[in-house]
Formats: sequence, C-alpha cells, structure tokens
Amino acid sequence: MRRVVLAYSGGLDTSVAVRWLMEHRDAEVIAVAVDVGQRADQSTDSWDAIRARALAAGAVEAIVVDARREMAEEFCFAAVRANARYEGKYPLVSALSRPVIVRHLVKAAREHGADAVAHGCTGKGNDQVRFEVGTRALAPDLDVIAPARVWGLTREECVEYAAKWDIPIEVTKDKLYSIDENLWGKSIECGVLEDPWASPPEDIYTLTKVTATGPVEVVVGFEHGVPVSLDGVRLDGHDLITRLGVAAGSTGFGRLDMVENRRVGIKSREIYECPGALALVMAHADLEDLTLEHDLHHEKARLEPRWSELVYDGMWFSPLKQALDAFMVESQRHVTGEVRLRFDAPGIGKVAGRQSPVALYDRGLATYDAGDTFRHEDAEGFVRLWGLGVATWAARQGGVQLADGQDTGGVTAEGTGR
Ligand code: ARG
Repeated sequence: MRRVVLAYSGGLDTSVAVRWLMEHRDAEVIAVAVDVGQRADQSTDSWDAIRARALAAGAVEAIVVDARREMAEEFCFAAVRANARYEGKYPLVSALSRPVIVRHLVKAAREHGADAVAHGCTGKGNDQVRFEVGTRALAPDLDVIAPARVWGLTREECVEYAAKWDIPIEVTKDKLYSIDENLWGKSIECGVLEDPWASPPEDIYTLTKVTATGPVEVVVGFEHGVPVSLDGVRLDGHDLITRLGVAAGSTGFGRLDMVENRRVGIKSREIYECPGALALVMAHADLEDLTLEHDLHHEKARLEPRWSELVYDGMWFSPLKQALDAFMVESQRHVTGEVRLRFDAPGIGKVAGRQSPVALYDRGLATYDAGDTFRHEDAEGFVRLWGLGVATWAARQGGVQLADGQDTGGVTAEGTGR
C-alpha cells in the first residue's frame, strides 16, 4: 500500500479526499494540517477537532503543525521587504501560505515514507499551481495527487459521500463563500461576489468591522526592513502582524475588492481583508522613501512587481525568486526607523510621520528657510549640462510644438530649414 501525505484543512473537500485516496488510490493517508494563523478569531473548529476529524475520515495519522512564526517571519516579512502587492493591490495572502504548507507536506512525506502528496484544490485556481510547483521544487521525486480535479463530485455529492462513510462533518447550510485565511489576511470568493458589479455584502467582513470610536495611531519600528515593534514594544512577527491588523481593522482599514488575473487564464473577482498586511507594507514603503538611495530605490521599485508575480504564480522556490530575495535583503541594510500610522474610520489609513537614524532626508538641504546648506551656485552648471543634449537637439532637429501652435522651427532632415 502506498502512503500519501494530504494537505488537510478540516473542511468537507479534504475530509472526503482522505477516504477517496483510500478507495481510489489504495493509499494510507497521513493528514497534515498546517497552522498559518487561520483560526485567529477561533470561529472555526479547534485543531484537536480537526485532527480527530481526519482520523475519523480514515487517516492513519493526523498531524497539526504550528507554522505561524515561520509564516510571519520568513514569508510575510519577505513580502514586506518587497512591498508585495500583486497587480498593485493584493498582498499575496493565500499565495504566501502555500509554500509554507508545501514545506511541511514534504517533511512529513520524508518522515512517513510517503511517495506522494495530495491537496484539495480544483483545477481552476492558483493554489493547485502553488502546491504542485512548490512540491516539485523541493521534492521532484514525489507524485502529486489532486483528488478534487479527478473525482468530478458536486458539493452535494461530496456531502453524500461523507455521509456514506460516516465522515463527521457539519454541513448545516449551503456554503456561501470560498474563504481562505491566514495571519496575513483573508480571501473571499464565490456566491454573489461572482458578479463583479454586485456590492459585497457587509456581513462577509470579519477583520475590518468598524469598532473604534476615534482615530487610531500606531508607531511601527523596523530594523533592516524587518518590522520589530509596535509603539516601542518589541514583538515576535506573528504577534506584531496580528496586533497591527486588529488596530487597523478596527477602523475598517484593510479591505480590497478587485478583479485579478489568475495564472490559469481566468479573471476572478476577489474580496480581501488584510489590515495588518496593508498597514505594514504601507509603513515599510514609506520608510524606504526616507532611507533608500535614489537609484537603489528606483531599481527596487521595478523589481517588486516581478517578485509579487513570481510568488503569486507559485514560484516561491524558484532560482529567480531566490536571487531577487538576495537583492531585497541587501537593499534593506539601512531601512531602519519608525513610521507613525494613523487610521480613521471608515477605512482610511495614512502615514502620519516617519523618522530614521540613517535617514537620507537632510533638512539643511531640503529647507527653503534660512540655514540652508545647499550650494545654489552649483545648480547652474549642473542644470546646463543636464539639458545640453536636449538644447543641441532643439537647435538642430527640434520641432516641438509651442503653446500657440507654432513650432520651434528646427532644421528638417533635408537640412533646408522651415
Ligand atoms: N485569488 C487568491 C489567490 O490566488 C485567493 C485564493 C484563495 N483560495 C481559496 N481556496 N479560496 O491568491
């Protein structure tokens, strides 16, 4: 009998997958549930209950791994360094958790002598890509099995299948949305949201409900691009992200409603709640404005979208992504300081101030007041040389339209003038 390690969530699909792998792939199933911070509000079953359900579904072994710290400090903070926002918006919530889970699937496969890993994703999404490409990067010898891509069961048939095999799952009402959550935020899809014109119902939001009665200010401290403190109190990564998320979310900050390009060629309408992620990236990018040298800053900004695309597309463990990480880490040498964030309901978040012991902002240079240390006389020669090429072009070839519609009367290609 072969052994298969299954990425187990405790939900209907992965519970059915346990039995399906036993029946249709003649496999012993090791269920691995990875805690990436998805139970922040404890609204879902406990890990003990999830573990018990995997065993009840037929797994020979059910393992729960606490990967919150790893998720926060190795994955989310790498995203902070890269100011990661896929398509300029989405801070990669689900995309960041998949490689964390993959690592633990592969580890369990090695420990339990499995020759395959399995996941519950369908064929239409990005998560299958992330699970499979990630697994192939870490363990090219392992097979990947995706039961939900094979079985062709509707949700109703899944419920019947669970009942037939006594898989303990409460399916009280129709599941309205497809939700994926971790400590970086929450992704919400399906149901009424599939109409991109329809406004998202207010009751889908759980992390960004307005409960604050006034503005909220928080000071985020960074060392070498890594968030280390809130209001001067040093916190570990997971705690810091969660607390900042609660503070920002209490003013309604952190919602996104977007149509995005999936890797598999489908455009989908997505709602995200990610107050902590958006607040941290906003603060970090602002501290870079203060501390990064001009060329480094501009080049980094060109590479950031590429980093986000690679991670979105399941390339976390790829050589290009690793090389870009090395660049990102090197770029953060002097990204140390504090950023003061201010949140006002409903949903407005801003940087209110920033400071750094290694700021490149120099008040003596920037000021228009007395005490100015800038050498004005240097500017004349600099500007003349900066514009020399354009001035030469204008005299010999130019033909730029003036405001009154006349052109500047440069020389034509034939050299006859105008
Ligand atoms: N569209 C987002 C992404 O690809 C969210 C995916 C959420 N996954 C889920 N199983 N609901 O990263």
